[in-house]
Amino acid sequence: MSLEVIILAAGQGTRMRSKLPKVLPPLAGKPMLQHAIDAAAQTAPAAIHVVVGHGAEQVKDAVAHPALQWALQAEQKGTGHAVAQGLGSVTDDATVLITYGDVPLVRAETLQNMVDRCADNLVLLTATLDNPTGYGRIIRDVSGAVQAIVEQKDASPEQLMVREVNTGMMALPAKYLREWLPKLSANNAQGEYYLTDIIAMAVAQGVAVDVAQPAALWEVEGVNNRLQLNALERQYQRLQAEALMTEGASLADADRIDVRGRLRIGQDVSIDVNCVFEGEVELGDDVEIGPNCVISNSRVAAGSVIRANSVLEDAVVGEGCTIGPFARLRPGTVLAKAARIGNFVETKNAQVGEGSKINHLSYVGDATLGSNVNIGAGTITCNYDGVNKSLTDIGDNAFVGSNTSLVAPVSVGDTATVAAGSTITGNIADGELGVARGRQRNIRGWKRPQKRS
Ligand code: UD1
Ligand code: CA
Repeated sequence: MSLEVIILAAGQGTRMRSKLPKVLPPLAGKPMLQHAIDAAAQTAPAAIHVVVGHGAEQVKDAVAHPALQWALQAEQKGTGHAVAQGLGSVTDDATVLITYGDVPLVRAETLQNMVDRCADNLVLLTATLDNPTGYGRIIRDVSGAVQAIVEQKDASPEQLMVREVNTGMMALPAKYLREWLPKLSANNAQGEYYLTDIIAMAVAQGVAVDVAQPAALWEVEGVNNRLQLNALERQYQRLQAEALMTEGASLADADRIDVRGRLRIGQDVSIDVNCVFEGEVELGDDVEIGPNCVISNSRVAAGSVIRANSVLEDAVVGEGCTIGPFARLRPGTVLAKAARIGNFVETKNAQVGEGSKINHLSYVGDATLGSNVNIGAGTITCNYDGVNKSLTDIGDNAFVGSNTSLVAPVSVGDTATVAAGSTITGNIADGELGVARGRQRNIRGWKRPQKRS
């Protein structure tokens, strides 16, 4: 039997007070709906049908998965109506798993458990809450068998006492949805076609209604406003932090690290406060990250130290390097072993050889540096003439004096030296000294100007 998922994502989400459709605000840097898609995808469904309505085009552009199929619910007439839109191209003998695009943290294990337990029955995901206000209540008979779901607005005072609620997620055979959804009526307090009314239909027809529960309540929490979004963001980040510590990372403060993507770590990594990791980041054994660093899509090899307030983006840092404080490694920066990048240094599309140093106040872009190069303070590669970018090539053991401008395209040979304060416009051969600056002259008997009386 095949599995297909229907994710409801047509709602507007007025309480988010956002230009974005409800399911798009990011959690850990990724749209909520993408989290819901990724969790559902782990059950290996043949298709994931997403029902969109408000901001449909924007939603379609913001998420991706090879199994995605779109269904449009032009007018939001209730969850039953929404599922009916998604059901269109579902095969008859499929099992259907229904989830919500605004419930981003449900775990794949919880969904898989529902799917595993679904044969010719209906499996409901329920939760027992201290405060069930707003949710549909699970109504059971004296023997404990589920009889129906009653929405908050339709419930009697007695039914409102029930603390077991419908999370909205369920699994059941497509054939039953095909049979029951057309029979729904909107004759209720909200004038909507309630998906939840199919429970009573199942019971009436003798189809078993089974119940599954999530391991944790945050899995089934929905997001209707930014307070709830933030609560789930913190929950998610707490889990990431715990996973990192379990894997052996030392965190200065488990509540002050944000991982927006995937962070892979070696042994004995330590991370100080207020660091943000984005996309795919890899930190090797014994890497130390100082406070306030932002590291995106980068690899830092074993033993390297990233000091405070450094920003790395699409960079590769070799073993035993020291970066920062206040360094900015931009895309295409590749540092070999034991390189040093100091404060207020920006690199971009730069290969820096083993043991080379750019310690202070420099811009090195579109450049290749050999090994053991020393770049003096304030050195700039002038890589852009306003139209084209050009390359700077610096050989092994070269020494570039402070406050040098290297006007690309230009090369500095192996063991060549550049005198401080030079503006280098021509190539310097191996071992030579390049000097390009005004010669100093001293004026004897110079008198300082006097203040006019
Ligand atoms: C629904 C359930 C309720 C459950 C609660 C859990 C029904 C009738 N009620 O109530 O039992 O306790 O979820 O959060 O199912 N949506 C559409 N199109 C629509 C209506 C809704 O796509 O026409 C989507 C929404 O965007 C949302 C989800 O379905 O993602 C749930 O809709 P919502 O209006 O929040 O349902 P509730 O009234 O909270
Ligand atoms: Ca809701």
